[in-house]
Amino acid sequence: MRVLGIETSCDETALAIYGHPPGEDRQTARLYGHVLHSQIAMHADYGGVVPELASRDHVQKIWPLLDTLLDECELSAGDIDAVAYTAGPGLVGALMVGACFATAFAWARHLPVVRVHHMEGHLLAPMLDDPELKPPFVALLVSGGHSQLVAVHQAGEYELLGESLDDAAGEAFDKVAKMLELDYPGGPNVAKLADTGDRTALRFPRPMTDRPGLDMSFSGLKTFTRNVLAEGKASHADIAAAFQEAVVDSLVIKSRRAIEATGYRQLVVAGGVSANRRLRTVMDAAGRKAGFGIAYPRAEFCTDNGAMIALAGYRRAIEGEGRHNLEVLVTPRWP
Ligand code: KG4
Ligand code: ZN
Repeated sequence: MRVLGIETSCDETALAIYGHPPGEDRQTARLYGHVLHSQIAMHADYGGVVPELASRDHVQKIWPLLDTLLDECELSAGDIDAVAYTAGPGLVGALMVGACFATAFAWARHLPVVRVHHMEGHLLAPMLDDPELKPPFVALLVSGGHSQLVAVHQAGEYELLGESLDDAAGEAFDKVAKMLELDYPGGPNVAKLADTGDRTALRFPRPMTDRPGLDMSFSGLKTFTRNVLAEGKASHADIAAAFQEAVVDSLVIKSRRAIEATGYRQLVVAGGVSANRRLRTVMDAAGRKAGFGIAYPRAEFCTDNGAMIALAGYRRAIEGEGRHNLEVLVTPRWP
């Protein structure tokens, strides 16, 4: 069972093959290869993703990327046993490109098609390098569109424990980056600037940590940042460091609470913001102190990629999930 995974929900066109060859079983499943084209440079002039440009670029890149992937994996189209694609959440036009491509490819070859939830992909990404990682665990999913704490009771059984009531953590990073006149995408640039600042020079609030519960909020931090910036007293580097520290502390406090609430001893941190080094340092210290383990995806699989979709699709395909029809289904606001 070898699964072609396709990710086009936002500004990366990404494909991968995950699975095992005929005659072997899931114990030997692995990532055969993955390819990615990032549209970051194309959207940078606009300060954010332009949906129409994103869709058109996916159309142009997806076919050549598949050829490159097959070459790299030393496989041919006939070696693929199922096709998985991100069906949502994401930009409708961008999702449609992956959905049409996946459905047509599968139809032509009589293969099943598996729809994958983008956040399930992120959540499983650490398993690409650590096949021993198994539920139950708590997942902190922090991307540009989501900040969620999820209890993974068993494979495929998810319970949403808490989420951001307003901006996602990555979105807050991106908005603060704009205020600090840093290029898109903001998260990595704020992190880089924060490295040069003094994180104790200013103290930003830790939103929603003074009351019980696992929901989060990041839009107040954005306003706080704007006000500090308007005062004109602090350096941009110190502001970036104080902002990052506040986001990191809030995420760590809520994750620790989720671990206590579930009694699980394993945390998975995934999504674009899980690439943040300060988050990893503070989270690792909290895990050592409270006695829970933490798994992260490797850096390139923190942000959007095809490998996580191929893996999620593989796990569903071997359970027999998958359609054989020409319905092109996307769910841009898939909860
Ligand atoms: O998971 P992802 O690639 O796409 C979504 O599904 O949204 O996440 C992208 C988000 C962006 O908001 C980006 O600024 C943020 O992840 N991000 C970071 C870092 N790297 C990416 N935020 C903070 N620190 C980083 N090192
Ligand atoms: Zn994502």
